Amino acid sequence: MTARIINGTELAKSVRQEVAVRAAALTAQGTQPCLAVILVGENPASQVYVRNKVKACEESGLRSILEHHPATLGEADLLARIDALNTDPDVHGILVQLPLPKHIDSHKVIEAIAAEKDVDGFHISNAGLLMTGQPLFRPCTPYGVMKMLENQGVALRGAEAVVVGASNIVGKPQAMLLLQAGATVTICNSKTVDLAAHTRRADVLVVAVGRANMITGDMIKPGAVVIDVGMNRLDNGKLAGDVDFASAVEVAGAITPVPGGVGPMTIAMLLVNTMEAAERSAG
Ligand code: GUN
Repeated sequence: MTARIINGTELAKSVRQEVAVRAAALTAQGTQPCLAVILVGENPASQVYVRNKVKACEESGLRSILEHHPATLGEADLLARIDALNTDPDVHGILVQLPLPKHIDSHKVIEAIAAEKDVDGFHISNAGLLMTGQPLFRPCTPYGVMKMLENQGVALRGAEAVVVGASNIVGKPQAMLLLQAGATVTICNSKTVDLAAHTRRADVLVVAVGRANMITGDMIKPGAVVIDVGMNRLDNGKLAGDVDFASAVEVAGAITPVPGGVGPMTIAMLLVNTMEAAERSAG
Protein backbone atom coordinates (compact mmCIF):
# COMPACT_ATOMS: atom_id res chain seq x y z
CA MET A 1 0.00 0.00 0.00
CA THR A 2 1.24 3.48 -0.77
CA ALA A 3 0.00 6.43 1.25
CA ARG A 4 -2.09 9.27 -0.14
CA ILE A 5 0.08 12.42 -0.31
CA ILE A 6 -1.48 15.41 1.47
CA ASN A 7 -0.77 18.47 -0.65
CA GLY A 8 -0.22 21.43 1.70
CA THR A 9 0.72 23.81 -1.11
CA GLU A 10 -2.66 23.35 -2.77
CA LEU A 11 -4.71 23.66 0.44
CA ALA A 12 -2.69 26.72 1.52
CA LYS A 13 -3.49 28.34 -1.81
CA SER A 14 -7.22 27.90 -1.31
CA VAL A 15 -7.01 29.21 2.29
CA ARG A 16 -5.12 32.26 1.03
CA GLN A 17 -7.73 32.85 -1.67
CA GLU A 18 -10.46 32.82 1.00
CA VAL A 19 -8.42 35.31 3.04
CA ALA A 20 -8.06 37.53 -0.04
CA VAL A 21 -11.85 37.72 -0.40
CA ARG A 22 -12.27 38.66 3.29
CA ALA A 23 -9.40 41.17 3.10
CA ALA A 24 -10.94 42.88 0.07
CA ALA A 25 -14.32 43.14 1.84
CA LEU A 26 -12.81 44.64 5.00
CA THR A 27 -10.61 47.01 2.99
CA ALA A 28 -13.72 48.21 1.12
CA GLN A 29 -15.22 49.06 4.52
CA GLY A 30 -12.16 51.20 5.31
CA THR A 31 -9.95 48.75 7.26
CA GLN A 32 -7.07 47.11 5.39
CA PRO A 33 -5.74 44.22 7.51
CA CYS A 34 -2.12 44.87 8.48
CA LEU A 35 0.60 42.60 9.85
CA ALA A 36 3.79 44.03 11.37
CA VAL A 37 6.78 41.67 11.28
CA ILE A 38 9.89 42.36 13.34
CA LEU A 39 13.16 40.66 12.48
CA VAL A 40 16.24 41.18 14.64
CA GLY A 41 19.61 40.12 13.23
CA GLU A 42 20.72 38.25 10.15
CA ASN A 43 19.68 34.61 10.72
CA PRO A 44 19.43 33.36 7.09
CA ALA A 45 16.51 30.98 7.71
CA SER A 46 14.59 33.72 9.56
CA GLN A 47 15.18 36.11 6.68
CA VAL A 48 13.64 33.62 4.25
CA TYR A 49 10.63 32.94 6.54
CA VAL A 50 10.01 36.67 7.03
CA ARG A 51 10.27 37.39 3.32
CA ASN A 52 7.73 34.64 2.61
CA LYS A 53 5.33 36.02 5.23
CA VAL A 54 5.50 39.53 3.78
CA LYS A 55 5.06 38.22 0.22
CA ALA A 56 2.03 36.14 1.29
CA CYS A 57 0.43 39.25 2.83
CA GLU A 58 0.88 41.15 -0.42
CA GLU A 59 -0.62 38.35 -2.49
CA SER A 60 -3.77 38.22 -0.35
CA GLY A 61 -4.25 42.00 -0.20
CA LEU A 62 -3.05 42.50 3.37
CA ARG A 63 -0.72 45.36 4.23
CA SER A 64 2.54 44.40 5.88
CA ILE A 65 5.21 46.35 7.72
CA LEU A 66 8.66 44.78 7.92
CA GLU A 67 11.00 46.12 10.59
CA HIS A 68 14.48 44.69 10.20
CA HIS A 69 16.75 45.66 13.09
CA PRO A 70 20.47 44.93 13.55
CA ALA A 71 21.46 42.05 15.90
CA THR A 72 22.81 44.70 18.29
CA LEU A 73 19.32 46.14 18.97
CA GLY A 74 18.82 46.47 22.73
CA GLU A 75 15.96 44.72 24.50
CA ALA A 76 14.49 48.02 25.73
CA ASP A 77 14.50 49.40 22.18
CA LEU A 78 12.71 46.29 20.89
CA LEU A 79 10.11 46.58 23.68
CA ALA A 80 9.59 50.24 22.74
CA ARG A 81 8.98 49.28 19.11
CA ILE A 82 6.41 46.66 20.18
CA ASP A 83 4.70 49.23 22.37
CA ALA A 84 4.40 51.62 19.41
CA LEU A 85 2.86 48.87 17.26
CA ASN A 86 0.52 47.83 20.09
CA THR A 87 -0.99 51.31 20.17
CA ASP A 88 -1.10 51.82 16.39
CA PRO A 89 -4.78 51.32 15.41
CA ASP A 90 -3.80 50.55 11.80
CA VAL A 91 -1.74 47.50 12.84
CA HIS A 92 -3.79 44.37 13.59
CA GLY A 93 -1.15 41.68 13.95
CA ILE A 94 2.39 41.74 15.38
CA LEU A 95 4.91 38.96 14.85
CA VAL A 96 8.43 38.94 16.25
CA GLN A 97 10.43 36.33 14.36
CA LEU A 98 12.18 33.80 16.60
CA PRO A 99 14.87 33.02 17.56
CA LEU A 100 16.01 36.38 18.93
CA PRO A 101 19.67 37.22 19.66
CA LYS A 102 20.87 35.81 23.01
CA HIS A 103 20.94 39.16 24.84
CA ILE A 104 17.16 39.53 24.39
CA ASP A 105 14.70 37.65 26.64
CA SER A 106 12.21 36.21 24.17
CA HIS A 107 9.60 35.46 26.87
CA LYS A 108 9.60 39.11 27.90
CA VAL A 109 9.25 40.17 24.27
CA ILE A 110 6.34 37.81 23.56
CA GLU A 111 4.52 38.97 26.72
CA ALA A 112 4.96 42.58 25.57
CA ILE A 113 2.86 42.01 22.46
CA ALA A 114 -0.80 42.97 23.00
CA ALA A 115 -2.66 39.64 23.29
CA GLU A 116 -5.28 40.79 20.77
CA LYS A 117 -2.51 41.41 18.18
CA ASP A 118 -0.52 38.23 18.98
CA VAL A 119 -1.21 36.44 15.68
CA ASP A 120 1.43 33.78 16.50
CA GLY A 121 -0.68 32.82 19.54
CA PHE A 122 2.44 32.62 21.73
CA HIS A 123 1.40 35.12 24.45
CA ILE A 124 0.77 33.48 27.80
CA SER A 125 -2.87 34.72 27.77
CA ASN A 126 -3.39 33.12 24.40
CA ALA A 127 -1.75 29.88 25.54
CA GLY A 128 -4.13 29.91 28.56
CA LEU A 129 -7.18 30.66 26.44
CA LEU A 130 -6.27 27.79 24.11
CA MET A 131 -5.79 25.43 27.04
CA THR A 132 -9.19 26.31 28.51
CA GLY A 133 -10.94 25.78 25.19
CA GLN A 134 -11.66 29.42 24.30
CA PRO A 135 -8.84 30.26 21.86
CA LEU A 136 -8.38 33.81 20.58
CA PHE A 137 -5.52 32.82 18.23
CA ARG A 138 -4.42 29.27 17.51
CA PRO A 139 -0.64 29.01 16.87
CA CYS A 140 -0.22 28.92 13.09
CA THR A 141 1.49 25.55 12.59
CA PRO A 142 -0.87 23.45 14.76
CA TYR A 143 -3.81 25.40 13.32
CA GLY A 144 -2.58 24.52 9.81
CA VAL A 145 -2.27 20.85 10.77
CA MET A 146 -5.88 20.84 12.06
CA LYS A 147 -7.02 22.44 8.80
CA MET A 148 -5.24 19.69 6.83
CA LEU A 149 -6.83 16.94 8.93
CA GLU A 150 -10.26 18.52 8.48
CA ASN A 151 -9.71 18.89 4.74
CA GLN A 152 -8.72 15.21 4.54
CA GLY A 153 -11.88 14.19 6.41
CA VAL A 154 -9.86 12.56 9.23
CA ALA A 155 -12.15 11.50 12.08
CA LEU A 156 -10.58 12.71 15.34
CA ARG A 157 -13.27 11.81 17.90
CA GLY A 158 -12.00 8.79 19.75
CA ALA A 159 -8.88 8.50 17.57
CA GLU A 160 -5.46 7.78 19.06
CA ALA A 161 -3.33 10.85 18.32
CA VAL A 162 0.37 10.90 19.15
CA VAL A 163 2.38 14.13 19.05
CA VAL A 164 6.14 13.71 19.03
CA GLY A 165 7.70 16.93 20.34
CA ALA A 166 6.53 19.14 23.21
CA SER A 167 7.52 22.66 22.16
CA ASN A 168 5.43 25.69 23.10
CA ILE A 169 5.19 26.63 19.40
CA VAL A 170 4.00 23.30 17.99
CA GLY A 171 3.82 20.18 20.19
CA LYS A 172 1.89 21.49 23.19
CA PRO A 173 -0.70 23.59 21.29
CA GLN A 174 -1.07 20.76 18.76
CA ALA A 175 -1.93 18.35 21.54
CA MET A 176 -4.52 20.78 22.94
CA LEU A 177 -6.23 21.22 19.57
CA LEU A 178 -6.34 17.45 18.99
CA LEU A 179 -7.69 16.91 22.50
CA GLN A 180 -10.41 19.51 21.96
CA ALA A 181 -11.33 17.72 18.72
CA GLY A 182 -12.01 14.59 20.75
CA ALA A 183 -8.82 12.60 20.19
CA THR A 184 -7.03 10.62 22.90
CA VAL A 185 -3.67 12.36 22.91
CA THR A 186 -0.18 11.26 23.89
CA ILE A 187 2.67 13.78 23.90
CA CYS A 188 6.14 12.24 23.53
CA ASN A 189 9.33 14.11 24.34
CA SER A 190 13.07 13.53 24.29
CA LYS A 191 12.89 11.49 27.53
CA THR A 192 10.20 9.11 26.24
CA VAL A 193 11.13 5.47 26.76
CA ASP A 194 10.35 3.27 23.74
CA LEU A 195 9.10 5.97 21.39
CA ALA A 196 8.10 3.39 18.76
CA ALA A 197 5.67 1.72 21.17
CA HIS A 198 3.76 5.02 21.29
CA THR A 199 4.00 6.00 17.63
CA ARG A 200 2.81 2.52 16.52
CA ARG A 201 -0.50 3.08 18.36
CA ALA A 202 -1.22 6.35 16.53
CA ASP A 203 -4.12 6.71 14.12
CA VAL A 204 -2.88 10.29 13.72
CA LEU A 205 0.84 10.92 14.18
CA VAL A 206 2.19 14.48 14.29
CA VAL A 207 5.97 14.82 14.42
CA ALA A 208 7.63 18.12 15.37
CA VAL A 209 11.08 17.41 16.71
CA GLY A 210 13.64 18.91 14.34
CA ARG A 211 15.64 15.74 13.68
CA ALA A 212 15.84 14.51 10.10
CA ASN A 213 14.22 11.17 9.28
CA MET A 214 13.89 10.02 12.91
CA ILE A 215 10.48 8.36 12.43
CA THR A 216 10.78 5.35 10.13
CA GLY A 217 8.11 3.20 8.50
CA ASP A 218 8.43 0.43 11.12
CA MET A 219 7.32 2.95 13.78
CA ILE A 220 4.03 3.72 12.00
CA LYS A 221 0.67 1.93 12.31
CA PRO A 222 -0.51 0.70 8.89
CA GLY A 223 -3.02 3.18 7.48
CA ALA A 224 -2.15 6.01 9.92
CA VAL A 225 -2.30 9.67 8.98
CA VAL A 226 1.24 11.05 9.33
CA ILE A 227 1.87 14.79 9.60
CA ASP A 228 5.51 15.84 9.37
CA VAL A 229 6.21 19.30 10.80
CA GLY A 230 10.01 18.89 10.54
CA MET A 231 12.07 21.07 8.23
CA ASN A 232 15.71 19.99 8.38
CA ARG A 233 18.48 21.13 6.05
CA LEU A 234 20.73 18.17 5.20
CA ASP A 235 24.49 18.41 4.50
CA ASN A 236 23.72 18.02 0.78
CA GLY A 237 21.54 21.15 0.95
CA LYS A 238 18.25 19.26 0.56
CA LEU A 239 15.28 19.66 2.92
CA ALA A 240 14.12 16.65 4.92
CA GLY A 241 11.30 16.18 7.38
CA ASP A 242 11.40 14.42 10.75
CA VAL A 243 9.78 11.41 9.07
CA ASP A 244 11.70 9.13 6.73
CA PHE A 245 9.35 9.60 3.79
CA ALA A 246 10.54 6.66 1.68
CA SER A 247 9.77 4.03 4.32
CA ALA A 248 6.76 5.84 5.85
CA VAL A 249 4.91 6.22 2.56
CA GLU A 250 4.77 2.41 2.25
CA VAL A 251 2.95 2.02 5.58
CA ALA A 252 0.88 5.16 6.23
CA GLY A 253 -2.60 5.77 4.85
CA ALA A 254 -1.87 9.46 4.22
CA ILE A 255 1.29 11.54 4.70
CA THR A 256 2.50 15.11 4.26
CA PRO A 257 5.62 15.66 2.17
CA VAL A 258 8.52 18.00 3.03
CA PRO A 259 8.61 20.46 1.40
CA GLY A 260 5.03 21.12 0.28
CA GLY A 261 3.22 19.82 3.36
CA VAL A 262 2.83 21.70 6.63
CA GLY A 263 5.18 24.60 5.75
CA PRO A 264 2.85 26.45 3.34
CA MET A 265 -0.05 25.95 5.77
CA THR A 266 1.78 27.79 8.56
CA ILE A 267 1.94 30.97 6.48
CA ALA A 268 -1.65 30.60 5.28
CA MET A 269 -2.89 30.36 8.89
CA LEU A 270 -0.85 33.42 9.86
CA LEU A 271 -2.90 35.31 7.27
CA VAL A 272 -6.10 33.83 8.70
CA ASN A 273 -5.11 34.96 12.21
CA THR A 274 -4.25 38.45 10.98
CA MET A 275 -7.57 38.58 9.16
CA GLU A 276 -9.42 37.55 12.34
CA ALA A 277 -7.56 40.22 14.34
CA ALA A 278 -8.49 42.90 11.80
CA GLU A 279 -12.14 41.81 11.64
CA ARG A 280 -12.37 41.89 15.44
CA SER A 281 -10.83 45.36 15.63
CA ALA A 282 -13.25 46.65 13.00
CA GLY A 283 -16.10 45.31 15.15
N1 GUN B 1 10.39 30.88 14.25
C1 GUN B 1 10.10 29.64 13.79
N2 GUN B 1 8.77 29.46 13.67
C2 GUN B 1 8.20 30.64 14.06
C3 GUN B 1 6.86 31.08 14.14
O1 GUN B 1 5.90 30.35 13.85
N3 GUN B 1 6.68 32.35 14.57
C4 GUN B 1 7.72 33.15 14.92
N4 GUN B 1 7.44 34.37 15.35
N5 GUN B 1 8.97 32.78 14.85
C5 GUN B 1 9.21 31.52 14.42
